[in-house]
Amino acid sequence: MSKSIIITGGAGFIGSHVVRLFVNNYPEYKIINLDALTYAGNLENLRDIESAPNYVFEKADILDKDVIEALFKKHEVTDVIHLAAESHVDRSILSPLDFVYTNIIGTVNLLNAAKECWKGDYANHRFHHVSTDEVFGTLGDTGFFTETTPYSPNSPYSASKAGSDHFVRAYGETYGLGYVITNCSNNYGPNHFPEKLIPLFINNIIHNKPLPVYGKGDNTRDWLFVIDHARAIDTVFHNGKNHDSYNVGGFNEWKNIDLVKLLCKLMDEKLGRTPGTSEALISYVKDRPGHDLRYAIDASRINKELGWKPSVTFEEGLSKTIDWYLSNETWLKNVTSGAYQNYYETQYADR
Ligand code: NAD
Ligand code: DAU
Repeated sequence: MSKSIIITGGAGFIGSHVVRLFVNNYPEYKIINLDALTYAGNLENLRDIESAPNYVFEKADILDKDVIEALFKKHEVTDVIHLAAESHVDRSILSPLDFVYTNIIGTVNLLNAAKECWKGDYANHRFHHVSTDEVFGTLGDTGFFTETTPYSPNSPYSASKAGSDHFVRAYGETYGLGYVITNCSNNYGPNHFPEKLIPLFINNIIHNKPLPVYGKGDNTRDWLFVIDHARAIDTVFHNGKNHDSYNVGGFNEWKNIDLVKLLCKLMDEKLGRTPGTSEALISYVKDRPGHDLRYAIDASRINKELGWKPSVTFEEGLSKTIDWYLSNETWLKNVTSGAYQNYYETQYADR
């Protein structure tokens, strides 16, 4: 049987790469991009595939349960790949309830629609929940997150994602719903909204604005090119074990300050500026409250069982990412006007 897949959050950063991959690689599937188009959703991200015959866009909010259930019926949905979320940690500190609504209640609405529409046939349908390594909390200087690391979320964002993971698992255990969860590390690449570290700093360097490094810049993240995350989702969606979870990561840890210095060096080269110009913009600011020290994913399970590994090195991925932002200044200008300005000013009011 061919599939009719709802991909939620398909107009966002990661979702747009997942939608493109599925639309191009699986012409026999119907791909329904379900997105509310919040500040983070942008149909510009999908211009190249919007007229593909197997692609449909539905503007809908996952908080609207009647609309969601109607869309399941209208498209005879066979599977879900769920990425829609409030995704930015700093925003979750300013406004935790928005994260509870979208990330927890929105996920439960989708689970209920799946439970109703797939009743009696759960084994032949899959709910793929896209989650984060942040649910595991923080590491010290050593060690890795594995699939059996206990959950210990520290921010309102990660608590809401942990809650959503638990609901997905509970619907599998209680009702028998077919599901799989992926917990991925930090992504970077084209279409990344410039509130997150890498695109924010690229944008600020272009405009000679300060680069606000939180605390001493000692925090460590494990970075993965977004197209490799989309490939991992494809792999797990099709071949992952039912009722199970897979960690996804780049085996690519960077201390923030080292990453920022590398980015500054590459930006100087690409913009033809004197070495050191961008680094001079670094400004240490008050730390993020509850700032997790270190994330590091052990991605050996997805590698050994399913054969997935990253396809690009960090240097290649970062260089491609910078080139994309330098060639897409209109995209950057459009998303950094209006509401973004208000957010950015509030964010730094007391730093
Ligand atoms: P994003 O913020 O770029 O995009 C989120 C998308 O969801 C947007 O298109 C937005 O319009 C949509 N959306 C938000 N609320 C909605 C609602 N109520 N109804 C329908 N659509 C709604 O996020 P992202 O960085 O692409 O992350 C996608 C998913 O991957 C999230 O679930 C996130 O937790 C997870 N994740 C992200 C990363 C990362 O590094 N960015 C890493 C691991 C996991
Ligand atoms: O680990 C996966 C997670 O990665 C995802 O689940 C989240 O959706 C995604 O936003 C990301 O969370 P982080 O908080 O790690 O990403 P962010 O880009 O916001 O920050 C990366 C690091 O850089 C973090 O240690 C905080 C720091 N930082 C961030 C910003 C925006 C700064 O020092 N200055 C900044 O201005």
